[in-house]
Amino acid sequence: MEYRKLGGTGVRVSAVSLGTGGQWGGRVDRGAAKRIVAAALDSGINYIDTANIYGTWYDGKPLAEEFLGLALEGVRERIVLGTKGCQRLGDGPNAWGASRYNLMNALEASLRRLRTDHVDLYQIHLYDPETPMEETMRTLEDLVRSGKVRYIGSSQYQAWQICTCNDLADRYGWARFVTTQAHYNLLEREAEAELLPFCRARNVGLLPYFALANGLLAGRYSPGEPPPADSRAAAFERTRRYLGRYGTPANYVTIGKLTEYARQRGHTLADLAIAWLLAEPVVATVITGASSAEQIAANARAAAWKLNASEAAEVRAILGSEGGTQE
Ligand SMILES: NC(=O)c1ccc[n+]([C@@H]2O[C@H](COP(=O)([O-])OP(=O)(O)OC[C@H]3O[C@@H](n4cnc5c(N)ncnc54)[C@H](OP(=O)(O)O)[C@@H]3O)[C@@H](O)[C@H]2O)c1
Repeated sequence: MEYRKLGGTGVRVSAVSLGTGGQWGGRVDRGAAKRIVAAALDSGINYIDTANIYGTWYDGKPLAEEFLGLALEGVRERIVLGTKGCQRLGDGPNAWGASRYNLMNALEASLRRLRTDHVDLYQIHLYDPETPMEETMRTLEDLVRSGKVRYIGSSQYQAWQICTCNDLADRYGWARFVTTQAHYNLLEREAEAELLPFCRARNVGLLPYFALANGLLAGRYSPGEPPPADSRAAAFERTRRYLGRYGTPANYVTIGKLTEYARQRGHTLADLAIAWLLAEPVVATVITGASSAEQIAANARAAAWKLNASEAAEVRAILGSEGGTQE
């Protein structure tokens, strides 16, 4: 496994990592979670991504952190653990947001569920336009100083939002965002317009999510056919909505070409989806979801495929120039 710097920090994370969104707490139960984490560790994965709201889409309970806390028993010190707060969890006007009130409560609750005394990367799940940036960044600084958080990151932020937050942090000598998470994959390249150049210029590590487009880029779905019975789309309305948006006729043509390109080189489409993201140096780790130990092991192996410059150019040619270019 290749290890990369987490943004501008000294800590190293596996180039491929495990995400616990989507299915943990439902399709991925307590036992499966343990097996997937064990397989991830065996494969050299050391970054695991979660969030306080993951798992709530089944029966409202934040089960992903709970299952992860149990699965990390005895192996916590081998993991760079990332979680997130900000999205609504519970009732009332303050049960969401990047306010000091909510973030401090949210982190304490995450620590309890994760059975740990600190998280390594605490991320603001999405930009909260109603809370002053100073309040959020000062709170994060306090959480770092308390020892409960090692590094801080953003998620779903625009470049100017990260930039303004980090400028504030620099002005006051507070902790800065070292990473950001964004929806980025072979079929969704909006991040290339502003976020990616910003991350390169300011050494903010990019953590792409939906790298496999919910399974579309892992060859799980075919045009005109119902989702396989054992797939996430068969079980999950959110995934069906995602497929409705990205499973377009044009995208299936592209997927066909990419699958053939990978096959000719002895790889799968999922390998290519991961390797292509890793060809971008500012990507710190590619977050991948998995519903089995075998899937996460396969995703980890994909990190071994280093696309050379001509391969990267060939893939760009298949994708076309829309969405920018990946240099
Ligand atoms: N920051 C944010 O706002 C944000 C938002 C979304 C996600 N995330 C993070 O990103 C992570 C990944 O997202 P995700 O799990 O939703 O989507 P994903 O990684 O794009 O897709 C995962 C799905 O792809 C299929 N798959 C994975 N590996 C495979 C393999 N080797 N072979 C065949 N199929 C394979 C599985 O589908 P089946 O289960 O159908 O087999 C799996 O459920 C989340 O867990 C979360 O940690 C962050």
